[in-house]
Amino acid sequence: MFNRKALLGGLAVSTLLVSAGVMAVNQTDSRNWLSDADEETRYERLEYYLGGFSSAMKETGDRYRHTEQAIYDENYELAYYHWDKIKGAIERGGMKRPDRRENAQAMFLDTAWKELAEALQDPDEHDVRGAFTQAKAACMACHGAEEVPFMNDQPLFRDGPLSD
Ligand code: HEC
Repeated sequence: MFNRKALLGGLAVSTLLVSAGVMAVNQTDSRNWLSDADEETRYERLEYYLGGFSSAMKETGDRYRHTEQAIYDENYELAYYHWDKIKGAIERGGMKRPDRRENAQAMFLDTAWKELAEALQDPDEHDVRGAFTQAKAACMACHGAEEVPFMNDQPLFRDGPLSD
């Protein structure tokens, strides 16, 4: 079966098609959108569904807020739990978007992330709060370096429980 819309619709639609089966990556009438697809389309659909760096950052933002709240509550085990999950989220982001990996590693994971992780494992309130402030600065510096500085002007970085 040919997809009539694709034949008539030109480039915009045809770039979404996999040449062999004329199967659109993001359009299917089947509820079994993975198991009914051919192998190549299946992987393309998974990549499309899992997104790029922003889905990793969505998780990072949520867990960052939970980390901050847990530090405020002096529940350092919970803070460490979320902080540790942030590392995984950012590593998965770097897997999906390798051009972001160098800054993620150098500006955050090998530096500010590690400092706070260490502070949380042997918690002293003053040290933990200091390391959190450094980590927040590192998040924001990376947004500058990766050319999304507008990310920094939002309540997540302004109105947290540890903000003065
Ligand atoms: C590699 C450098 C880098 C680091 C480190 C980084 N970010 Fe990001 N962040 C980005 C980029 C790039 C985007 C935009 C992604 C896109 O456009 O797909 C982003 C987007 C976001 C978003 C918006 C996500 C959405 O789409 O809803 C939030 C929230 C966020 N970052 C929070 C954080 C927090 C909190 C930290 C630190 C714990 C952090 N980021 C560390 C680069 C970084």
